[in-house]
This record gives sequence, structure tokens and C-alpha cells, in this order.
Amino acid sequence: MTGNLFAVSDLHVSYAENRTVVDGLRPETPDDWLIVAGDVGEKVADIERTLAELRGRFAAVIWAPGNHELWTHPSDPVTLRGVARYEALVQVCRDLGVLTPEDDFAVWPGPGGPVAVVPLFQLYDYSFRAPGTSTKEESLSRAYAAGVVCTDEMLLHPDPFPDRESWCADRLARTRRRLDALDPALSTVLVSHWPLVREPTDVLWHPEFAQWCGTELTADWHVRYRAVVAVYGHLHIPRTTHYDGVRFEEVSLGYPREWKRRGVPPRPMRRILPDAGAGRA
Ligand SMILES: [Fe+2]
Ligand SMILES: [Fe+2]
Repeated sequence: MTGNLFAVSDLHVSYAENRTVVDGLRPETPDDWLIVAGDVGEKVADIERTLAELRGRFAAVIWAPGNHELWTHPSDPVTLRGVARYEALVQVCRDLGVLTPEDDFAVWPGPGGPVAVVPLFQLYDYSFRAPGTSTKEESLSRAYAAGVVCTDEMLLHPDPFPDRESWCADRLARTRRRLDALDPALSTVLVSHWPLVREPTDVLWHPEFAQWCGTELTADWHVRYRAVVAVYGHLHIPRTTHYDGVRFEEVSLGYPREWKRRGVPPRPMRRILPDAGAGRA
């Protein structure tokens, strides 16, 4: 068995230059899989078209939602909010044959496997608070004072939950049940839009933004659920780091103004398995 497990996130296809990058995302072998870790775009039609294209090229595509997919954007004719919007996106994926956090976990059979590829949707709960604050309210008001407020506050509706942290709590409970039921002999690739641990947010230019980036309640998931790699995006800071000996891969493309600073052409697709550092044995 040959093949590569690749990952990418934050394709943000509302930008024409990013759509050109997506056109260039190609497998290296007919057995390659692609993880898409959220923020494909904001409009359901854009998300569907992009995932359909990628599904046509890769042997499997695994998607986890980002905050942008969950926005109810005024320019999107699909006006669903919150859970209903997420469920509609899951249905779009299922119709395309794209795996979601609601489906049975696929097991990567290629080099570096067998490993369960586990897309997660855990959202955030404002527990990555701004420095020097101890409550959500303090942390949020610090962000408003600094002028660093995530657009989620306006467009990511939690319906039918009263707030985003309640939705997050529900997602965590559902997800833990599924992870706990996994075969304990099976390693995982954990895939989420938001990082499972707080440390990646330490390098944010605006530390107030961290409160929209995850939850302290997933801090041990990479160890507890036997991750060989944890894939995430959202920060638009692509890099490889290690926490507790586990490789974390931030796989974002990001906005054109961001990737142009890093040099062109961008090569956003990162190899998750086999691990180049571990050899192909
Ligand atoms: Fe993004
Ligand atoms: Fe994001």
C-alpha cells in the first residue's frame, strides 16, 4: 500500500487567488487522502463546489468545520443558523462522499497506518482568556477595548443553544463519547479547526484573539486519545510543533495577504503520514 495522508485548512475560497491555489491541490498517488480542517469558505455553495472538486481528485476527503463555514453570512442565500447550518453542511458532505465528524472514523491503511482519522468539531468556550483576566466577561471586554473582536460574535450563531460556550460543551460531550468508544489499540490523527491545546496561540500578534481559538477542556486529548499527529488551522500560522511528544501540524493556507508575505507560490498541502521525519519503514 502506497499513498499519502495530506492536510490543508483555511482555503478561504471567497478570494479568487485562493481558488487558483485550490485548483493546484493535486494528489501524488491515486491512494492519497486529503484532510480539510475548516474555513473552506462562508457560502454553502462555495463550500460544496470546493469539496466536490477535491473529492474528485483524492481517494478520500475528510472535513471538519471551521468558524467561517458556521457563519450565517449576509451574502449567503442559505440562512440557516447554528446547529441547523452545521447539519446542513454535514448533509452536503455526505452527498459528496466527504467524511465529517458525524461519520464513522476512517482508518488510514497506508504508510504510517493503521491510524483512525478523526475529524472533530469542538468549537471554543472563551477559556483561552486574555492575559490578566479571569472571567469570560473580562476577557471579552478586554478584546473589545483592544479592537480585536472575532467576527464570530456577529455571525456565528449558536441556535438553539443560548451561547457558543453551551454549544461547545455539547460538542465536547458528544465527541468524548465517540473517542472513548474507539479501540484503545488504535492510534489516531486528530483533526480540528481549532487547536486542541492553548500553546499555539501564544504566538498570536493579538493575544486577545485566543479566546476564539479553543477550549482548555481538550488540553489532554492528544495524549488521552493516542494521537500520532494533531492537525489544526484557524490561526493562519502554518508550522510544526510538538507537545507531550505529539506532532501538531497547523496546515492553513490563509488569506492572500498572509501567504504572499511567505513567498509564492504557496504549497499549503502538508504531509501528515507517512512522517517524513520517521522514514518510510
Ligand atoms: Fe481561517
Ligand atoms: Fe477559522
